[in-house]
Amino acid sequence: MKILAIESSCDETAAAVVEDGRRILSSVVASQVEEHKLYGGVVPEIASRRHCEAINGVVKKALEDAGTDLQGIDALAVTYAPGLIGALLVGVNFAKGLSLSTGLPLIPVHHLRSHIASNYLGHPDLEPPFLCLVVSGGHSHIVEVKDYTCMKIIGKTRDDAAGEAFDKAARTMGMPYPGGIHLDKIAESGNPLAFVLPHPKVEGAPYDFSFSGLKTAVINLIHNASQKGETLSAADLSASFRKAVVDSLTGNFLRAAQDLGIRQLVLAGGVSANSLLRRRMEEECRQRGWQCYAPPLSLCGDNGAMVGAQAYYEYLAGNLASTDLNARATMSIE
Ligand code: KG4
Ligand code: ZN
Repeated sequence: MKILAIESSCDETAAAVVEDGRRILSSVVASQVEEHKLYGGVVPEIASRRHCEAINGVVKKALEDAGTDLQGIDALAVTYAPGLIGALLVGVNFAKGLSLSTGLPLIPVHHLRSHIASNYLGHPDLEPPFLCLVVSGGHSHIVEVKDYTCMKIIGKTRDDAAGEAFDKAARTMGMPYPGGIHLDKIAESGNPLAFVLPHPKVEGAPYDFSFSGLKTAVINLIHNASQKGETLSAADLSASFRKAVVDSLTGNFLRAAQDLGIRQLVLAGGVSANSLLRRRMEEECRQRGWQCYAPPLSLCGDNGAMVGAQAYYEYLAGNLASTDLNARATMSIE
């Protein structure tokens, strides 16, 4: 079954053709990051406009690259929640129009579920049940994936998402948006023990996260140093910050897996590209004899292929949209 999938939840306009939820026939991503960089973050209104301009060409190219046209497609899929509402609406309305004109069924896909599904594309052997750490620019969840379309939130952030914390700390250090990837690179040459940073815990909720205190601690360190006319080593500060975030993420994730008796652990979302997070999880799982999976680096960020992967399983579960499908800025993964 060939699915043409569309993604426009944030600042990438993306489309892909995916076969049977596992095989990428094409994947096209038009990033707007260079434009948002000028403002230090995503400007929602600009994002919507750029999606409008790009979507037709991106979908056309995805069909061309897959060596097909709409006649060779069996179903359409689109990200409908959560995300920037104006951005989501572009993809949803485009997909609805395409569905109406072709008569093809339309499959609505939850953005975080599709991040999880990026792992099915890289790991043909991976099947639920497993425990997943979903870490992106907007969310930090520990999710029990009981089946492809049945999920339970075990823990989540009480304030900032992990990606957001990375981006804000990086911005304070003068790195361009999105800073997570720059901070990760610079951290490789730094000393993670150079600065003592807080490792916040949420009282009474051992699987929940809190990153805002950590972010503020870094901002305060930088401001105090600059008031004294000193500059701190960006490499050391990045390494110490990255270690604190990864300690918190992996600590809660491994504890939840231990308590729930789950031995298959999966990473997903933009922050799953973080090199320390990937190394640490691989090592911790190897020591315990557990299985550890992470998406291929090319599929960690937003893309259409992951939407096509999850859509296949939503279709099998009978989750189809009707013509009144609407976008939603927030929606639980459950
Ligand atoms: O999943 P994603 O592409 O978009 C959302 O759905 O939010 O995640 C983007 C986030 C950004 O905050 C970005 O800085 C972060 O993922 N990110 C990273 C790395 N690569 C991307 N954070 C830490 N280390 C990285 N290597
Ligand atoms: Zn995302």
